[in-house]
Amino acid sequence: MEFRLGVVQNSPKFLKAPQNLKACFELMDKQDADLWVLPEFFASGYNFKTRKEAAKCAETANGPLAALLKAYSVRNGCAIVAGFPEKAGAKLYNSAMLVDGAKSRTYRKTHLFGGEKKFFTPGDTGFWTEKVKGVQVGVMVCFDWFFPEAARTLALKGAEVIAHPSNLVLPWAPEGMKIRSLENRVFSATANRVGVERGLRYIGQSQMVSPNGTLLVRLGPDQPAAAVVTIDAWTAKNKKVHPACDLFDDRRPALYAR
Ligand code: ACM
Repeated sequence: MEFRLGVVQNSPKFLKAPQNLKACFELMDKQDADLWVLPEFFASGYNFKTRKEAAKCAETANGPLAALLKAYSVRNGCAIVAGFPEKAGAKLYNSAMLVDGAKSRTYRKTHLFGGEKKFFTPGDTGFWTEKVKGVQVGVMVCFDWFFPEAARTLALKGAEVIAHPSNLVLPWAPEGMKIRSLENRVFSATANRVGVERGLRYIGQSQMVSPNGTLLVRLGPDQPAAAVVTIDAWTAKNKKVHPACDLFDDRRPALYAR
C-alpha cells in the first residue's frame, strides 16, 4: 500500500508558538503527504529552565494547538504527529498527538531525558498504534529510541510506521534508529529540530528509514527543511529475515525475563 510519509525539521523560536506553527505549515504546504511527523515540542521550544515556564506553554490534548493541527489535517487530507508539552490536571507530560481529521490520540513520553525529569511526569499512556489511511502507525518520542523495548512494543502491536518526534542533542539516534527499524522490520520517521536554544544544540538529521534499515532520506544538521518519501507500508508486515526465521515468531520471551 503506497503511503506518503513526511518529516518536518524546524528551527523553533523559543516560546513563539504561532510563528513556529506557521513556519511548519509553510514547509508542509510545499508537498503532499499522508502523514507528517513534526519534532518534539515543535511549537514551544524545548529548553525550559523552570516548571512555571513549561507550564505556561503546556496545553491540554484538546487545546488550541490540537484545534489548529486538526484544521490543517482536515484541509489537507493528511494526518500529523507532533510533540507538545501537555497539561493534564496538575501534571505536565512530554506528549505527542496523532491528529487525523477531527480525531486525535495522545502518547505521553515514557522515558524522560535529562532536565525533563524536573518538570514532566513519566508517561502513563503506554504504547499504542492507530490506523492512518490503512497503515498502522505507532508513536514514540525522542529518547524512547534508546530503549529497544519501545520500538519493539510498537512493532508487536502492529506498527508498520513508527513516528518519532524528537529534539535530539546526543549524536547516536540517526544511526541507532536504522537498527530500531531493522530489528523490528518497520519504517521509522524521526523528525528532529535544528538550532541552538539557551546553549543546547540540536543535531537535525531528521530521517526516514525502511524495514531493511536503509536510509530513505536524511536532512542536514542545521537548516529547516521537509521531506516526503513514498513507501510501501505492506513490506513492514514481513518479519522474515530468512525463509526459516521470523523475527517475531522466533522470539523466546520465556528466556528474556531477568
Ligand atoms: C530527548 O529525549 N529530547 C533527547
